[in-house]
Amino acid sequence: MSDARDTATVGLSGRRLVLGVAGGIAAYKAAELCRLFVKAGASVRVVMTAAAARFIGPLTLQALSGHPVSQDLFDPGTEAEIGHVRLADEAELIVIAPATADCIARLAAGLADDLLAAVVLAGRGPVLLAPAMNVNMWENPLTQANLARLLGPAGGGRFSTVGPDRGELACGWIGAGRLIEPAEIAAAAARLLAPGDLSGRRVVVSAGPTREPIDDVRFIGNRSSGKMGAALAASAAARGAEVTFLAGPGTPAVAAGPGRVTRVPFETAADLERALADAADGADAVVMAAAVADFRPRARAAGKLSRRAAGAPTLELVEVPDLLAGLGGRRRQSGKPGPFLVGFAAEVAGGSAMDERAGAKLREKGCDAVVANDVGAPGIGFDAADNAVTVLFADGARADIPRASKRAVADRLWDLFAPRLAELARG
Ligand code: CTP
Repeated sequence: MSDARDTATVGLSGRRLVLGVAGGIAAYKAAELCRLFVKAGASVRVVMTAAAARFIGPLTLQALSGHPVSQDLFDPGTEAEIGHVRLADEAELIVIAPATADCIARLAAGLADDLLAAVVLAGRGPVLLAPAMNVNMWENPLTQANLARLLGPAGGGRFSTVGPDRGELACGWIGAGRLIEPAEIAAAAARLLAPGDLSGRRVVVSAGPTREPIDDVRFIGNRSSGKMGAALAASAAARGAEVTFLAGPGTPAVAAGPGRVTRVPFETAADLERALADAADGADAVVMAAAVADFRPRARAAGKLSRRAAGAPTLELVEVPDLLAGLGGRRRQSGKPGPFLVGFAAEVAGGSAMDERAGAKLREKGCDAVVANDVGAPGIGFDAADNAVTVLFADGARADIPRASKRAVADRLWDLFAPRLAELARG
């Protein structure tokens, strides 16, 4: 194992983990994960489902963890002292690897008829799921809905996921569904237990498109999906920030935890402006990932403009105030150093032209950083799962974040912003 991985799991030393193993072919990899946890100094109690015990011997996990493996909700020995509640209370983190489709469904339904489900339901702490299954099971809307339920408000902010990977699956299919490498799971567990570098910070993240009404049924919108902003909000909450999440239409839900997430929906730029005025006051950072309209129809027609009655209308557009520039201007007037202001620059050209335009936005809007991305490039940008960005800072610093999932890009962005927020807070 490399030094880098040792560093990644150093936060696990002395921590109490429950390793839940569900019944899938990847269950054998739980042995390696258990070994990594123990090597990092964690105390590990393994809970296996009956199906898991058909894939990997409990004795293996007992030997690796140094403790008896719990399997039975009705074990007269341990259940005399309500073993499942004790396991749940003592765990600082429950890691389920592999989390099968069945396991995810059972947790989403709040079932408690086997030991693993009962431990999760009885616990109040974080649960890290490392899904592994056949690609069709993974992509099945039922599985995705179950997962979304766990990651959304019903999950109480306790659940997060790591993986799955794409690749060749045991069933012969190629696609998403492979258990992510045990070292990655261990590193994700360490990150969840680390004291967040944004704890105590209040951050505002705006995401998604605006809709500017033409009449009561039509609007001018844009292609923003809100995924990048949602990833930024989720990443900040995972690092302990208290997040005000200003969410445009269609923006995905964001799980809280350990920090809180307050979702404030908006539709028009004017709604967003009002929400920002409330939220930005006293915030440590405002990240404007929302794709705000630059123009809106001067007036909203009542009802539905009728082709039959009046033919094609001519729309008169008026400019929408630049909300980010407004925040920058107000900060300058107040003489205060904060909040730390981050803008996004959606450009349709990469390279030096993108840098130039993003640099101009940085100066004109008076923000501290601009995250530029080439929305014209294939596979990244609007509605894509991935992104690749260049960050320009007002102090001249610059960072390139290569193509990765939007969540990974968000994590890297907070890696860059968190020390600057800490510096601001020190005054
Ligand atoms: N923005 C804003 N208010 C607006 C328009 C944009 O606050 N009315 C913010 C966006 O949230 C983003 C940044 O400004 O953080 C840059 O948005 P972008 O659309 O790339 O730039 P524009 O200023 O609109 O410039 P242009 O249309 O010339 O590219």
